[in-house]
Order: sequence, then C-alpha cells, then structure tokens
Amino acid sequence: MTDPVLESALPRRVVVTGATGKLGRAVVAHLRDVGVDVLAVDRAGGRDPRDVDGEFLLVDLTDYGQVVEAFTGGADEHAGDVEAVVHLAAVPAPGLLPNATTFANNSAATYNVFAAARAAGIKRVVWASSETVLGLPFDTPPPYVPVDEEYPPRPESTYSLNKALEEEMARHFCRWDPDLVMVGLRFSNVMDVEDYAQFPSFDADPQLRRWNLWGYIDARDGAQAVERALAHDRPGADVFIIANADTVMSRSSASLMGEVHPGVEVRKKLGEHETLLSIDKARRLLGYQPQHSWRDHVDPTGG
Ligand SMILES: NC(=O)c1ccc[n+]([C@@H]2O[C@H](COP(=O)([O-])OP(=O)(O)OC[C@H]3O[C@@H](n4cnc5c(N)ncnc54)[C@H](O)[C@@H]3O)[C@@H](O)[C@H]2O)c1
Repeated sequence: MTDPVLESALPRRVVVTGATGKLGRAVVAHLRDVGVDVLAVDRAGGRDPRDVDGEFLLVDLTDYGQVVEAFTGGADEHAGDVEAVVHLAAVPAPGLLPNATTFANNSAATYNVFAAARAAGIKRVVWASSETVLGLPFDTPPPYVPVDEEYPPRPESTYSLNKALEEEMARHFCRWDPDLVMVGLRFSNVMDVEDYAQFPSFDADPQLRRWNLWGYIDARDGAQAVERALAHDRPGADVFIIANADTVMSRSSASLMGEVHPGVEVRKKLGEHETLLSIDKARRLLGYQPQHSWRDHVDPTGG
C-alpha cells in the first residue's frame, strides 16, 4: 500500500550498496516499487536479472575512488543527483572469513561510503548495523528483555565490533555536519520466505536460537524499515532495532526466557510470541510496522 505522505518525504535518487545480497535484493525491489530511482551497486553479480533488475554498477567499496564516482555520477551512463545512500554491503556475519579480513573489508567499505557521501554533499545515509551489537550470542545474558537501544553496544565478535565502531563513526560524521541524517538499522537475522520451512524445527531445542533471542527479520519488512529510515529527517545519528513482531518459536516468549535466561529481568508483560528484540523505538520514530510473519507461510506445528 502506498502512503503519499511517506512517498513525498523520500529522496528521488538513492544508491543502494550490497544490492545483489539477500537484503539488498529486497530493498532495491521495494524502493523501485515505491518510485525511488535506485542505482544498485555491489562488487558481485548484476548482469543476471535474477540478481538485480535495472540500473547496476559494479563497485568495490574498499576503493574510495570507485565510491566517489558512483555517488557523483562520474561513471558513464549513471549520472543523476544522488540524494541518499543505503549502505548494506558487508561480509554479513562473524565466522565467514578470517576476522581481520572481515574487519578490513567492512570497515574500509563503510568509512569510504560515509566519507564519499560527505564529499558528494549527500545528507541522508541509512546503513545496516546489526542485532549483534546487543550482545549476541548472549553467553553473557542480556541486561533485561526486551533488549532495546538504551544500553551501550556489547560486541562479542570482530564483525560486531566493526558494526559498533560504525555507529560511533556515524555520530562523529554528524557532529562534523549538523545537517546530516544518519540512520543505523540493527537488523535481526534476515529471512526470505523460503527460509520459513525450517522454522518449525527450531521448537525442539530452545537453545538452538538462543543466540539472538529467537528473533528474525523478513527481508520485505527490512526493506520497509529502509524506506521509513530514508524518510526520517531528524539530523544526527540514531540507531534502531529492526525485527519482526514475533519470534521464530511456537512456545511463548515468557516460557523461553523462564527456561533459558531465568535470572534476566522481563520489563513488560509479553504477548504470546512477542519479540524480545524491542522494535518500539522504530515503531515510534520511524513508523515502522512489520507486515509479515513466518506463521503466515508455514504451519507452526510443522504439520
Ligand atoms: N543476514 C543477516 O542475518 C544480517 C543480520 C544483521 C545485519 N546484517 C547486515 O545487513 C547487510 C546485508 O546483509 P545480507 O544478509 O544481505 O548479506 P549478503 O552477503 O547477502 O549481501 C552483502 C553484499 O555486500 C556485497 N559486498 C561485500 N563487500 C563489498 C565490497 N567491498 N564492495 C562492494 N560490495 C560488497 C557482497 O557482494 C554482497 O552482495 C550487511 O551489512 C549485514 O552485515 C545482516
């Protein structure tokens, strides 16, 4: 459903990095659906329409010159004033590559994106932070649930350390430029509809998905959050947890906490399957409203 007020607040032309990735594909499709002109960039894919349809530029974000060209219309056939950047490109989890390789790629890519946006005079940057900064995998229990944005980052991996540093870096970029709006979205574990078939199997062992408090984000709802964040116009750096409204489990959220983290304070009366990753701030300040649930796609009992 289109929202005319939201649409009028959206930038006209946006660069999306990580465009051929899992979240990037959903974000590019969604932004184009709501009428945003998207220059999709990634270092992988792009010639195959199954990756990403429409305008695409192959860019290695660790090379500053390439990022500046992408943002300033310097690459042939990709002119047009870029009004905002959505930065999703990264090695997307701990343990995929050696730590130093993950850090070198993700920190250089994000610095280059933030710095090139500044050099190009782009005043809106939305980027993918991560739920990991909340203290995943919670070998040290969370301070309380639902976890929210009110306690300092607790990165427990090199991947997460980099996300925490990006949040800090954004604060300084905004201190340098009082007109800049930077929104960090702390996405939960990204899921496509095909992923939901495995969800009923999670129920057998509550420890299986303890590492992120049984949270997830449907890629389409992640895309909605990006759209909302692009319309956010309050200068400064801010961060928001982005998850679905429910957990991946059939058991109640209260019973999961009682069994797995019995000593942790539960700060509100929880709905039956209510997320333990609070999305209240995103709801309040971005107008984010998840539209999807895995329960709409598979039978939770696995039948
Ligand atoms: N997948 C999750 O569960 C999850 C959870 C929280 C946050 N995130 C974050 O969301 C973002 C998107 O994740 P995803 O699941 O779509 O990952 P993905 O691996 O599917 O996509 C990431 C894309 O970034 C590109 N990329 C990486 N380094 C690059 C570079 N130097 N230059 C150009 N392109 C580069 C890759 O080619 C890839 O297409 C990432 O920032 C990730 O850290 C993901």
